[in-house]
Amino acid sequence: MDSNHNPVLLEESVGYLITDKGGAYFDGTFGFGGHSRRFLKELDDSAVIIGTDLDEIVFNKSQLNFQHESRVRLYNFNFKNIGIAAKLEQISGFSGIFADLGVSSFQLDNEEEGFTYRSTAPLDLRMDKREGKPASWLLNNLEHKDLARIFRDYGEEIQSGFIANLIVKYREAKPFRTTTDLAELLETVTPQRFLFKRLSRIFQALRIEVNGELDSLREFLARSVPLLEPGGRIVILTYHSLEDRIVKEFFKEEEKGCTCPPEFPVCVCNKVSTLKVLTKKPVTPSDEEVWLNRRARSGKLRAAEKKLVRNNSAEKRR
Ligand SMILES: C[S@@+](CC[C@H](N)C(=O)[O-])C[C@H]1O[C@@H](n2cnc3c(N)ncnc32)[C@H](O)[C@@H]1O
Repeated sequence: MDSNHNPVLLEESVGYLITDKGGAYFDGTFGFGGHSRRFLKELDDSAVIIGTDLDEIVFNKSQLNFQHESRVRLYNFNFKNIGIAAKLEQISGFSGIFADLGVSSFQLDNEEEGFTYRSTAPLDLRMDKREGKPASWLLNNLEHKDLARIFRDYGEEIQSGFIANLIVKYREAKPFRTTTDLAELLETVTPQRFLFKRLSRIFQALRIEVNGELDSLREFLARSVPLLEPGGRIVILTYHSLEDRIVKEFFKEEEKGCTCPPEFPVCVCNKVSTLKVLTKKPVTPSDEEVWLNRRARSGKLRAAEKKLVRNNSAEKRR
């Protein structure tokens, strides 16, 4: 593998995801295929993994690396388009759907990608350069209150208003262009021992915003459930509390059946329980894994299984 990315919670992901050795699987965040390589070891020759990755550089490398693996088919688009991938591959249902959110160590470390504040690059932060606006545009155009919201909500930055202020003042003199413009500005107001943490928080917040990461996750989850075979599993790995909350709430809501008041003789809400949650608490990496791979420290795995969807009024009467 030509990436320095160590797949997080690898054995746990295999354990939760694979239920049918000859099934069709979807890896929405294929990356360099660290997880999928391990899934392939568990799977038969008749199995298939459909992978998506938004990042063109990553996608091209993986296309090359997996060109001789006939069980893998890759697409360079957003995982929220899982339905399009299923249609193109004529797959009516997946045995397993997997996502390992965020960006890889390769993307963070590679200067060509422009995700790192450790070297000078255009301040972009988009995984898909064909869509949306770069991070420099946000810094140069958004109102103070919107910048503050992004830093607070997505970066958990306690001085979000102060940082937004600083940015608005800076751009009155000249526009933001590079990662270094932002990094050097933050350096002027941050004690050295807190600097890397602050840079990570601010860059992460901007990345989540420019890529619309939370909306993509919501759409992906909603479209995944109808594409899961009964008994099939959905396994999601998150690294941010907001992402984890979205997955947790979504699974909980899908697990809920009829919500009509108990005095109703028959169900009128038509809500059907579609998922059974397999992880009441998220699975987290062992101390050993965190020691070996620092990126794993915030990882959380949640898994759920597709139910056989029953007639709603029958469920209500039970
Ligand atoms: C944490 S890495 C996955 C690493 C992979 N599991 C492995 O072990 O090699 C996340 C990958 O998902 C991609 N990605 C993030 N959000 C995406 C989205 N909405 N749709 C498709 N790919 C996405 C990123 O470009 C990145 O390559």
